Amino acid sequence: MSTTRDDLDDVLVSDLELWREGPPHHLFRRLRSECPVHWSATIPDYPGEAGYWSVTRPEDIHAISRDWRTYSSELGGVTSVGVFPLELIRSMFIGMDPPRHDRLKVLFQAGFTPRRIAAHEPAIRGIVVEVLDRLEGRESCDLVTEVAQPVVSRVIGSFMGVPSEDDAEWARLMNAALAVGDPDMSPRGVDTLLEDSIPQLFERCRQLIAARRERPTDDLTSVLVHAEVEGERLDEQEIVMGFFLLMAAGNDSTKATYCSGMRALMEHPEQRQLLLEDPSLIPRAVEESLRMFPAFAHFARTATRDTELGGQTIRQGEKVVMWYAASGRDEARYPEPDRFDVRRNPDHQAFGAGGRHFCLGTALARLELRVLFEESLARYPSMELAGEPTWVVSTFVNQLKTLPVRLGAGRRAVV
Ligand code: HEM
Repeated sequence: MSTTRDDLDDVLVSDLELWREGPPHHLFRRLRSECPVHWSATIPDYPGEAGYWSVTRPEDIHAISRDWRTYSSELGGVTSVGVFPLELIRSMFIGMDPPRHDRLKVLFQAGFTPRRIAAHEPAIRGIVVEVLDRLEGRESCDLVTEVAQPVVSRVIGSFMGVPSEDDAEWARLMNAALAVGDPDMSPRGVDTLLEDSIPQLFERCRQLIAARRERPTDDLTSVLVHAEVEGERLDEQEIVMGFFLLMAAGNDSTKATYCSGMRALMEHPEQRQLLLEDPSLIPRAVEESLRMFPAFAHFARTATRDTELGGQTIRQGEKVVMWYAASGRDEARYPEPDRFDVRRNPDHQAFGAGGRHFCLGTALARLELRVLFEESLARYPSMELAGEPTWVVSTFVNQLKTLPVRLGAGRRAVV
């Protein structure tokens, strides 16, 4: 099966031991140059699973993303190992191929156009300011749980019509579902997911949907409940799963890039100074953060036929993992790829590499990140790290679990 080189042959890329402090960038550097399409023969903790191909160069990831006929999202799920039950993934449009994917994506796209999202800027800024106001008088805080999480939960919660008092519980359940390998987030792993998080999440979805059926409002859930695609209403399952996908993506993505970006700014004060002197650079800092710290380390596809990629034969049924955490550091594309440079304004694959599954939430995520950076920097221009950050144990969500900071002197002015 494998044609990889010497010691790389035995490497299991998703071995969690390699991910204790985030993505294994040293390994990814070697893979990009020595073995850009690499076979991991078995999967630790998942003895029943076959291996998978790791793809680390942007051009190969691009080729996979654009060719859904050869690389399916539906056949084998969208993550490297089957943590999530396949039926669950396939019932969300992220895990569908055409024609099922077309039908649902079109409907959702209408709610997420850049113009529509831009109209939410004042509301999003209001949420960020309100969360930062809660820190008034404090000297330190945890940026993940006390700033990033409440902001992203309220933003997506307000889109979907979730009452704000339920935000924390939604966040807990979603974190447990997506970070299923982390004992702090999901104490009994897959059992927590199947017996606790998923049933509770679905029950909450159903309750909200029932309420909106009876009394529609202007939230996205009401749109879903009353939408028609090709003259037909969505069925209950389609609505629940659409709701679930948006809540999952909204609760668990932007916060990762914000926290890692803030950490980089604290570790590189000269970069932060550039933003403080010229806040018009902040959108570039957002793109640089997405390049270096994509919220999802990977998504996966399954080959529908025998094919060839980067000189390797891929057999029908084999899984192909697109490591965005690796492609953003490609030295052929980015000079000094490990250097955080807020002036770079890079293209990247954090939202996927184009193709039909390109992230629906791109405009929302960019807006949230820009406003979060703007308001945090304006309020706390001298924020400092106050201890070692910790990582969520996962090869899927690329996320800090804690980021202790000293806030420094606070200002109330907006950038
Ligand atoms: C920094 C923030 C985010 C990043 C890095 C990100 C990344 C991604 C990536 C890589 C995919 C492609 C999945 C695949 O190829 O299989 C994706 C899909 C998706 N994202 Fe995002 N995302 C972010 C924020 C959001 C937000 C805020 C939302 C909405 C609330 C969202 C909704 C979605 C949806 C619905 C899909 C599935 C699209 C489809 O299958 O057609 N994302 N995202």
